[in-house]
Amino acid sequence: MGNYSSNVGSVLISKERIQERVKDIAQKINEDYKDKDNVVILGVLKGAFVFLADLIREISLDIRVEFISVSSYVNSESTGKFYLKIPCTGNLEGANVIIVEDIIDSGLTIEYLLDVLKNQKVKSARICCLFSKKIRREKEVDIDYVGFDIGDDFIIGYGLDYNGKFRNIPFIATYKDDKNL
Ligand code: PRP
Repeated sequence: MGNYSSNVGSVLISKERIQERVKDIAQKINEDYKDKDNVVILGVLKGAFVFLADLIREISLDIRVEFISVSSYVNSESTGKFYLKIPCTGNLEGANVIIVEDIIDSGLTIEYLLDVLKNQKVKSARICCLFSKKIRREKEVDIDYVGFDIGDDFIIGYGLDYNGKFRNIPFIATYKDDKNL
């Protein structure tokens, strides 16, 4: 299992299962977008970069890849207010955008992003995420492409971090707190 730290718990989703689902999702996108032009895959940094890198290599359409980064103000006064940490540098006007997320929890980030895209006058916007934690939803979100519906475990790996670490793990594991060792 590699020389990962003791915080890396048991394997929840193997590398192979992830790759299968990524291929399934890409196939659906290939089918759904085969007659569309100006298709943009918009990755939400940082978490989505691993999923996005695998996904786009299974997409056999003419696409552009863009990135965006969203953050929320963290203090008790303004939690839940978002801003663009890194705006998208490409032109999204008139584009058929597929937002690619690693995980959707509360749904607040995606709600904010859909609003941003509307203001940029995109032609269409769909949502693709590898992991969905429905149990944590605060806003109803219509997700067009979902890899796995998961429970409330804190998961790491395949782009998902804990304090910036563990994004490089090629499978999904639970995060094991030192207290529980
Ligand atoms: C994660 C994830 C989504 C967001 C989802 O990002 O990548 O963007 O949280 O949460 P929500 O549905 O509750 O809004 P995070 O803020 O952890 O940053 P990262 O992608 O840089 O790890």
